[in-house]
Amino acid sequence: MAKDIILLGAPGAGKGTQGALLAEALGLPKIATGDILREAVRQGTELGREAKRFMDAGELVPDDVILGLVRLALALPNAAQGAIFDGFPRTAAQAEAVDRIQAELGRRLSAVILFEVPDEVIVDRMTGRRTDPESGAVYHIRYNPPPPAVRERVIQRADDTEETVRRRLVVYREMTKPLIARYRSAAVPIHRVDGTGDIEAVHAAIMEQVTG
Ligand code: AP5
Repeated sequence: MAKDIILLGAPGAGKGTQGALLAEALGLPKIATGDILREAVRQGTELGREAKRFMDAGELVPDDVILGLVRLALALPNAAQGAIFDGFPRTAAQAEAVDRIQAELGRRLSAVILFEVPDEVIVDRMTGRRTDPESGAVYHIRYNPPPPAVRERVIQRADDTEETVRRRLVVYREMTKPLIARYRSAAVPIHRVDGTGDIEAVHAAIMEQVTG
């Protein structure tokens, strides 16, 4: 049976960075709803046009749109053994629907990794974040600088301004943080991870929790 892992935490807590390392270490795909939406925006599809106004304002994209994307991604052959969920579920309705989709597809949740990072660290991280538009790799101007070969082409995300980051933190507290209680009452291990260490230290802590 496919075993899935949810990465839960505030915007900028390190889910994407750690999700990529964990996916590589476990040989599982990382499914990131934010990445799928940004690719749709880049391609100018109808989905991208609809999603962009929510994303740029720091608001959540409607649940039905997200759940359609998740259903498609989980049905792909590369997710047959399990997957790392980065950026979903993000609302109670998404969590319930993800449970149903997993049951339909013969999958189950094996763990939730909860990232704990204070707001001021998050604002500093996100305003310094840069992304390589060609590979999707994520960097930080100080903590994880892009290598010289890609330094000229990295871009800043439209939703990484301080004002939008602060709105996203409010949305996280209102809509997503309550999911912690939901998973605490489910029979799934929740691994709390201090996300303030450097990238390698956080990865080591996650590996110890997941494989220990
Ligand atoms: P999404 O792309 O999911 O963004 P997010 O959850 O807000 O998270 P981020 O990608 O901003 O941060 P992260 O936790 O991945 O941190 P990262 O590793 O990059 O969503 C974007 C938007 O899409 C949403 O606002 C919403 O509109 C929409 N959306 C997506 N999913 C949705 C859903 N399910 N429902 C509804 N709407 C949805 O790290 C951040 C920075 O810090 C980087 O620069 C990194 O290099 C650096 N860094 C990471 N770790 C460390 C460390 N340990 N030390 C120092 N620096 C570090």
